[in-house]
Amino acid sequence: MTDILVIGGGIIGLSTAIALSQRGAKVTIVERDICGKGATWAAAGMLAPEAECLEGSLLEFGLRSREMYPQWISSLMRLSGLDCGYWCCGIIAPIFSERDRLVLSQHPKYIDKSQSHQRQSGLGDSILGSLWLPEDGQVSNRKLAQALITAARALSIKILEGVTVYEIARDRDRVTHLETSAGKLQSDRYVLATGAWTRSLLALPIKPIKGQMLSVFDGDRKLQKVIYAPNCYIVPRQDGTIVIGATVEDKGFAQGNTGAGIAQLLNNAIAVYPAIADMPITETWWGFRPHAPNEIPILGVSDYENLILATGHYRNGILFAPITAKCVTDLIVDGIVDPMLSF
Ligand code: FAD
Ligand code: GLY
Repeated sequence: MTDILVIGGGIIGLSTAIALSQRGAKVTIVERDICGKGATWAAAGMLAPEAECLEGSLLEFGLRSREMYPQWISSLMRLSGLDCGYWCCGIIAPIFSERDRLVLSQHPKYIDKSQSHQRQSGLGDSILGSLWLPEDGQVSNRKLAQALITAARALSIKILEGVTVYEIARDRDRVTHLETSAGKLQSDRYVLATGAWTRSLLALPIKPIKGQMLSVFDGDRKLQKVIYAPNCYIVPRQDGTIVIGATVEDKGFAQGNTGAGIAQLLNNAIAVYPAIADMPITETWWGFRPHAPNEIPILGVSDYENLILATGHYRNGILFAPITAKCVTDLIVDGIVDPMLSF
């Protein structure tokens, strides 16, 4: 018997399980594959509420989560002993058309062409100016996932990997148990954190939006800022890896990289940062973002009194993880509904 069963071992399930455990709950995570191998593994790891142009209360949500990051990472590093590749490197959002430049030159974070090149050498010549977003940054999402798994184990959270939930069994307004590949699992409460696959368990309007990605290696490590262009983004890691993303494809769970997808990313990335043309390609991959209507996560209470929802984080689940974990935990442990939960 466990107090809380978390379905899904991605960044959202892991972060929430850790926050709940730190408030004294006995938590089990059920993951059908290996924890952290879904969208959490595929992401670029940008912490970019401003570059992603979030608006209104979703922007507030993102800014609060970005603010939580330094302390959240320190606590995870203490618990796990692992580095997470958290880097407040800032983001340059380049502008390519004169029309955009005229509009954005009124923006408080606008810098002109020569200031852009001073901020980051080697930018493409077609850049007319940019927004400089010093507080946006990045984390190495794959390292972060490892730290979360290690921290969860250190807190004695039970992790059931290779166990698929087939059905959330319900009786009127309560979940009674989970039907899984390992038999029936029962708990007082349940958290649904199944990302793009949520619809197979509950009739929620979540759909997968595929993103193709690739990485190259930069032996010189001259790129020191994330570049967030209109058609691609370029994310330098501290070890010289440069992550380039991403396509946005509404094609269900179609597997694999395509020539067109990778060609599009590379052509755009080379126009923005020409040195990429000579860098060796090290990896290609893809993943499925959990898209929810209006790109707003589905968080909090459900139609079932002991089932809490934490899904639909779409393009910003790495950014939103600390605040999601906090809000869901406050709701379960204290019954507090953060105003942020009603977007
Ligand atoms: P996931 O990481 O997908 O985890 C869900 C887990 O649930 C999976 O491990 C899955 O196996 C498990 N599961 C599903 N169904 C079942 C079941 N029936 N039984 C048991 N287990 C189940 N976000 C950012 O903040 N910054 C970025 O730069 C960024 N870049 C991205 C780039 C790409 C290409 C993609 C695809 C996403 C990107 N994102 C980014 C978005 C971010 O990755 C997601 O929003 C986030 O990972 C969602 O986390 P999650 O835990 O909900 O989902
Ligand atoms: N946030 C970047 C992406 O989803 O591709």
